[in-house]
Amino acid sequence: MAEMEKKPIKITETILRDAHQSLIATRMTTEQMVPIIEKMDKVGYHSVECWGGATFDASLRFLKEDPWERLRKFRDGFKNTKLQMLFRGQNILGYRPYADDVVEYFVQKSLANGIDIIRIFDCLNDLRNLQTAVTAANREKGHAQVALSYTLGDAYTLEYWVDIAKRIEDMGANSICIKDMAGLLVPYKATELIEALKDAVDLPIQLHTHYTSGVASMTYLKAVEAGVDVIDTAMSPFALGTSQPATEVMVETFKGTPYDTGFDQKLLAEIADYFRPMRDEALESGLLNPKNMGVNIKTLLYQVPGGMLSNLTSQLKEQNAEDKYYEVLEEVPRVRNDLGEPPLVTPSSQIVGTQAVFNVLMGERYKMATKETKDILSGKYGKTVKPFNEDVKKKVLGDDAEIITCRPADLIPDELDTLRKECEQWVQQDEDVLSYALFPQVATEFFKYREAQQTKVDQTIADTKNGSYPV
Ligand code: CO
Repeated sequence: MAEMEKKPIKITETILRDAHQSLIATRMTTEQMVPIIEKMDKVGYHSVECWGGATFDASLRFLKEDPWERLRKFRDGFKNTKLQMLFRGQNILGYRPYADDVVEYFVQKSLANGIDIIRIFDCLNDLRNLQTAVTAANREKGHAQVALSYTLGDAYTLEYWVDIAKRIEDMGANSICIKDMAGLLVPYKATELIEALKDAVDLPIQLHTHYTSGVASMTYLKAVEAGVDVIDTAMSPFALGTSQPATEVMVETFKGTPYDTGFDQKLLAEIADYFRPMRDEALESGLLNPKNMGVNIKTLLYQVPGGMLSNLTSQLKEQNAEDKYYEVLEEVPRVRNDLGEPPLVTPSSQIVGTQAVFNVLMGERYKMATKETKDILSGKYGKTVKPFNEDVKKKVLGDDAEIITCRPADLIPDELDTLRKECEQWVQQDEDVLSYALFPQVATEFFKYREAQQTKVDQTIADTKNGSYPV
């Protein structure tokens, strides 16, 4: 065999974002992460994904932490490693589309506080929903990575992926990510897809997948052989199951090959030792459900992300209708088809899932439609790859409904000034208005909590000065 040219595979470490979001409901605290940063910074990762996705919401809501403060601590600690975040296009890190001025300001502040690479995706792969964020990142000299939400279906041919990748290159992105949130990309399909993309565009290609269906490590192997540039992995204590393939395993797999990462396994072992007690503790407390650790082959059968399956289970449990589980699972692809066959990722996964539950429980399809179903059918989320089912659209919206065909955010007036006024009394830093914009109630509660804590600290200092030491 002829000597192959060296092409070390680059690695994005996800343990500080996707791994704990996928396995322990995003509950890792800043305090738990900071002590290991110095070691992680020495590994040589391409980047560390550590912010965005659900971490913002979870910090404010459950951990009573300021997400911006967390980001600044990461930036202080990671001196050599690029920091990466996940961004939901026009929905930012929330669940509704925002005006362009909020999107631009959020991108600007994320980069100013330490993010290097912003991975931007849209649940419909409607590139118009990504343009504002990409342009804002370009303007601030950040790296704009556009992620394609990977899915299966009639419309999602190799030609579809190649065409959309070319359009991403044209729109000014710095790299492309294939974001396979459900673990649907199987090894030999990965070869086809990566080879086709590498032929079509000059941008670096990154692959993101989840272990849910059990094929992920093999998919990475084939993707790397086909020329993918970067893969996403998680340190072993928080790898596999609904998370990513394990970093150490991938490093060892490519050792001595042209794809050798050159990472130090001893250093990786020390990092794993640090995280392992956290995993044991999460197993003991029930935060980490052993069910999420095995292979869930149903995701391949029903083409539904693991997180969506568990949402459906709990929705049915609330309605005392657990016996309808398989009926609902069969209804999911039908609803998805009626709604233009979107990828199933936040928020389209929730929209399709909830409507499927309604359809089954009401005993008549679309007897009741959720607000979100109405919105998607009237174009408020953007353009779907396939047309809607006209009969369903008529039943849900009526005959003379208003349909949007422009970029949805064109219809949203600037909202930053209004938001600033609304949260004026709580603001302690510029970034607070962005926390408020995304989660008004949760952020307000956090601001109140923050003030109460500060009052407590002030009181302690005053007491100390007066000589009455707290015991
Ligand atoms: Co993911």
